[in-house]
Amino acid sequence: HGTSRVNKQGHLEIGGIDTIELTKKYGTPLYVYDVALIRERAKNFRDTFAKLGIKAQVAYASKAFSTVAMIQLVEEEGLSLDVVSGGELYTALQAGFPVERIHFHGNNKSYEELEMAIKHQVGCIVVDNFYELTLLDEISNKHQVQTPILLRVTPGIEAHTHDYILTGQEDSKFGFGLENGQADTAVETVLSLSGVSLLGIHCHIGSQIFETTGFVLAAKKMFGKLKDWKQAHNYIPEVLNLGGGFGIRYTKEDDPIPVAQYVEEIIREVKIHAAELNIDVPEIWIEPGRSMVGDAGTTLYSVGSRKEVPNIRNYVAIDGGMNDNIRPALYQAKYEAVLANRVYDEVEETVSIAGKCCESGDMLIWDLPLPKANSADVLAVFCTGAYGYSMANNYNRIPRPPVIFVENSEEQLVVKRESYEDIVRLDVPLKANVKK
Ligand code: LLP
Repeated sequence: HGTSRVNKQGHLEIGGIDTIELTKKYGTPLYVYDVALIRERAKNFRDTFAKLGIKAQVAYASKAFSTVAMIQLVEEEGLSLDVVSGGELYTALQAGFPVERIHFHGNNKSYEELEMAIKHQVGCIVVDNFYELTLLDEISNKHQVQTPILLRVTPGIEAHTHDYILTGQEDSKFGFGLENGQADTAVETVLSLSGVSLLGIHCHIGSQIFETTGFVLAAKKMFGKLKDWKQAHNYIPEVLNLGGGFGIRYTKEDDPIPVAQYVEEIIREVKIHAAELNIDVPEIWIEPGRSMVGDAGTTLYSVGSRKEVPNIRNYVAIDGGMNDNIRPALYQAKYEAVLANRVYDEVEETVSIAGKCCESGDMLIWDLPLPKANSADVLAVFCTGAYGYSMANNYNRIPRPPVIFVENSEEQLVVKRESYEDIVRLDVPLKANVKK
């Protein structure tokens, strides 16, 4: 998919670059991003809304993959940006991202984070709870500004995905309950505060979702409340934000629907309810993360040791694992992979790919059909672009891999490989022992 090809030597090529050459130059593990594919995804979102003639903001959810270069790419593609922490906001500012297109999320933003966002005049803060509302009003008044906000509501929807990435159900740590009166109280409160102005409401029902039903139902439920608020307070929203969560294909078993279809069905629903309420169709905001970058990322590993458990299983270990991709360990996520240096070689065995961490759960792929892999081979794991690097960690004090962007036969290092010096950089040695 994307610009991935197999070249004459049988090597996997991405963006016109031979991945084996990349591993020789930068080592392994290595994250490689197909920039043309990210641009295509961005364009697809833009075109879908343009075709429907709907005012929209597509905010890339930077938690999926945030680095200065990535944020610059998002800027080039004219999208908005969703950040969820001071660190993601800082990255966006370092990248020179237009502040008015930044939306700030999070269920426990600190005073410092909120003040940072207000000082930099970010476009919108998505308020999650009453505590935050009070803080935000206080900080806004201190700086004599009125902060544009969305209220995050929890519509009470069970999307069909892994429990850990479900977010729209009533029993969730996020947002004001839509069905238990919290959202009503929040709107009433907001309308009485001088430090904030209510642009509209937000919901996010979950991630890696394959059907439109949940989104359509969420829109319907939100309009139910908007009707109440119009009657009670004459409140009319400018913005309706339906979050992210559009699923992608990790393996052949996954069957997501095209982005345009999600958007079209959501808009159809929104238009019906706006007409019923006799209001203009609000601006529609969405927040795709995974569907912007997921399948644009490929991780390259060197094959190392093998272990054969007679009559049971063959393990093939690679030089990465849960450090650079925690998703299999955390969500039982499935991936597909090939030997990048001999893609067309015949399948000879079924192996399970083990990571190098001291942890039995550090298994990247179970039961993968491969040619007989040896230590001269490079394993390419596909669709690692979302929540791979962004959730990478230093467990076992293993340095995090670098990130390479490839496009039009050119490559660019956008995150350097961590070194052992980086690993101990923040460590402070014990004070000198003075006893002697
Ligand atoms: N908006 C909000 C408010 C969110 O909480 C999220 C994801 C998104 C947008 C973007 O969702 P996406 O389009 O990427 O599905 N680490 C997990 C995913 C956690 C998603 C958290 N929130 C994983 O690796 O599957």
